[in-house]
Amino acid sequence: LVQQTAFSASGPINPDIKKDVDKVVDSVSLNDLDGKKQVSYCRCWRSATFPLCNGAHVAHNKASGDNVGPLLVKASE
Ligand code: FES
Repeated sequence: LVQQTAFSASGPINPDIKKDVDKVVDSVSLNDLDGKKQVSYCRCWRSATFPLCNGAHVAHNKASGDNVGPLLVKASE
């Protein structure tokens, strides 16, 4: 069973990140937290610090009516 999702043919989700590669893939090791309590990863494709969130989703949501936000990876306590 394949779950269907809404699809818009209005254009690419990714406006300009790593357009020189066929597929943008990033991997994260939990060791990458490097002492931080949490790291925020972008899911809106608008961050200038992609794959990290820089808060650009706020302007994107306001302009588009979207509701996207980051993936928060938290260190274990
Ligand atoms: Fe993309 Fe925050 S900047 S989710």
